[in-house]
Amino acid sequence: MVEHYALLSSAETLAFAKVFARRLERFPACVFLEGPLGAGKTLFTRGLVFGLLGAKAASQVKSPSFVLINEYKGKEGPLVAHIDFYRLKGWKELLDEVLDYLSAPCLIVIEWPKSSQGFFVPHVRQAYNISIEITGPSERLFTVEEL
Ligand SMILES: Nc1ncnc2c1ncn2[C@@H]1O[C@H](COP(=O)(O)OP(=O)(O)OP(=O)(O)O)[C@@H](O)[C@H]1O
Ligand SMILES: [Mg+2]
Repeated sequence: MVEHYALLSSAETLAFAKVFARRLERFPACVFLEGPLGAGKTLFTRGLVFGLLGAKAASQVKSPSFVLINEYKGKEGPLVAHIDFYRLKGWKELLDEVLDYLSAPCLIVIEWPKSSQGFFVPHVRQAYNISIEITGPSERLFTVEEL
């Protein structure tokens, strides 16, 4: 089933992500985030981390574009590995790290997944693809599909 959500502001995207986090309850799990630069992939991740780990962890969320991987932890809840494949030629450059996350009860959030879904999905207990379209200065269309 494919779902569509039209979100009209950054605040709505954060609130949506916070609620979406409740769907994630079997780990390891994976969320793939597709969409152009500035679509809101990192902002959505902040909301997701808020929902799973709370405000303090959410305040740590920043773009992994340069460091490639950020990890977020809370008192409870899964370790969240926030990964960005944008600068990589092939996502397999991070295979060692990825295999570690897949063998633990983690949530893996991937920006710019570059067709890596087929590899990850058989290794996780839940997976979602979320693609974000920029439909206006503060409007975004989210398309959510469970894989
Ligand atoms: N409805 C909205 N949802 C998400 N972001 C929005 C929305 N409206 C405006 N924005 C703005 O768009 C920008 C999204 O930035 P963000 O870093 O989350 O994008 P990104 O998809 O991760 O980009 P990149 O590919 O560069 O990592 C932020 O400045 C945010 O405030
Ligand atoms: Mg980003």
